[in-house]
Amino acid sequence: MSVPLPAHRRLPRSLYLHIPFCHRRCFYCDFPVVPLGDRADGSRSPSVDHYLRLLLQDLQSAPSGPPLSTLYIGGGTPSLLSPQQLEGLLSAVGSHWGLAPGAEVTLEMDPASFDQQRLTSVLALGVNRVSLGGQSFDDAVLAGLGRRHRAEQLREACGWLQQAQQRGSLQSWSLDLIVNLPEQSLQHWLWELEQAVDQAPPHLSIYDLIVEAGTVFERRQRAGQLPLPGEDAAADRLEATHQALAGAGYGHYEISSWAMPGHGSRHNRAYWSGASWWALGLGATAGVGAERLARPRTREAYGAWLQQQAGQQGGDPADWPPLEDLLLVGLRRREGVDLLWLQHSGLWRGPQPLAQWLQQALKPWLELGLVLLTPARLRLLAPQGFGLSNAVLADLLLALERAGWSAPIG
Ligand SMILES: C[S@@+](CC[C@H](N)C(=O)[O-])C[C@H]1O[C@@H](n2cnc3c(N)ncnc32)[C@H](O)[C@@H]1O
Ligand code: SF4
Repeated sequence: MSVPLPAHRRLPRSLYLHIPFCHRRCFYCDFPVVPLGDRADGSRSPSVDHYLRLLLQDLQSAPSGPPLSTLYIGGGTPSLLSPQQLEGLLSAVGSHWGLAPGAEVTLEMDPASFDQQRLTSVLALGVNRVSLGGQSFDDAVLAGLGRRHRAEQLREACGWLQQAQQRGSLQSWSLDLIVNLPEQSLQHWLWELEQAVDQAPPHLSIYDLIVEAGTVFERRQRAGQLPLPGEDAAADRLEATHQALAGAGYGHYEISSWAMPGHGSRHNRAYWSGASWWALGLGATAGVGAERLARPRTREAYGAWLQQQAGQQGGDPADWPPLEDLLLVGLRRREGVDLLWLQHSGLWRGPQPLAQWLQQALKPWLELGLVLLTPARLRLLAPQGFGLSNAVLADLLLALERAGWSAPIG
C-alpha cells in the first residue's frame, strides 16, 4: 500500500503567473510593475509581446509535474492582456502541466482595464474566478490612491461579474479593498464595507495599507503629509469589519480574507497550507519544498536570468520548509497549524512535545485569549488574534530563536 506524502513533499499543483503591466503605478504600490500609460492595451504593446515571449521561455524550461489544481494570473494588471494573449498563455500551461478537472483559474482584473465583452471572452477561455482590484467606492479616495478607475466603473464591473456568476459562466469572484487609508474615519470605512457588500462579491480581500519604501505614500509620510489611523483605530476597524461581514454571511478564513461558504480561494489556501507552488514571471517567488526562488524584478534582469537559469529551476521537492515558515503560514489560516503533523515530521527538535513548548512560549497571548492551543492544533482566534497576529508571530519567532531551534532572525 502506498502511503500518501504530506502536503509539503508533493510536487506543486499550483502556479502563479506574474503579468507586470499596469496603466499607472498607484501611489501605495511597490509590486514589480511596468506602467504603460492610461491608453495602453496589451494587444497593441510591443513591451507586452516581448515579456510574454520571456514568460513562455520561463514556462518551457520549468520542470514538469502533475496537472495543476489552481492557476493564479496576477500582477500588475493581467486584464490588460488581450484574450488572444491570454489564450496563448493558458494553452502553454495546458500543454506543460495541464489543468486538473475542476481546477480554479483566477485572473486579477482592474476595473479600468476591461469591459463586459472582454470579460465574456476571458471566461470563455477557462478563467473561472476573478479578483477585482476595487480598493474604494469613493472617487476622492480613489483619486488620492492614484487609481485610474472611479466608483461608477467599479460598480459597473461588479455588476458584470454578478451577472456572469448568475449565468454560471463564472464560479466565483473576489473584491479587493484597502483599509486604514489616510484620513479614513471608522464611519467612512463602514460605509465602504456597505457598498462592497451591496455588490454581493462571494469573496472579499481586505488589505491593511502598508506604506512601502519608494512609493508616493512613503514620500508623503516622510514629509508628514500622510495622516494614517493609529494602531488602536486600526484594531477597532478590524473588529468592526469582522462584525459587519459576519453579519452579512462572510466567514473570516484568513487574516485578510472573507468568503461566503464554498468561496475561499483554493490557490491562496495552497500557499497558506505550506504546499509547494510554481511561480513564473519577473519578480515572482516560487516555493518548492524548502526552497524559495525569487525571479529578478526588472525585465532586463529577468531576461538575463532566464538565459542563465534555463532548465535548472525547481529545487529539490523532497525538502520541507523550515519549522518557522510552516508555523507562520499556518497561523494565517483560520484552522491554524496541525501540531501533531509537525511533531511527527521531525522538524521539531525540542526536548518536550511541541504543544507543551508553545504553552510556555505563547503564555501571555494564551492568557489574553487571543490564541487557542490544544495538543493537536495552534490557531489565532478571530478577530482580535488576527488583528494582533504580527505581535504574536514576532514573539513566536523570538522564542524559537532563543531556544535555538530556528535560524537567527535578520
Ligand atoms: C495586483 S493588485 C490587484 C489587481 C490590479 N493590479 C489592481 O490593483 O486593480 C493586488 C492588490 O494588492 C493590494 N495592495 C497593493 N499594494 C498595497 C499596499 N501597499 N497596501 C495594501 N494593499 C496593497 C491592493 O488591494 C490590490 O488590489
Ligand atoms: S495596485 Fe494594482 S494597478 Fe495599482 S500599481 Fe499595483 S498592481 Fe498596478
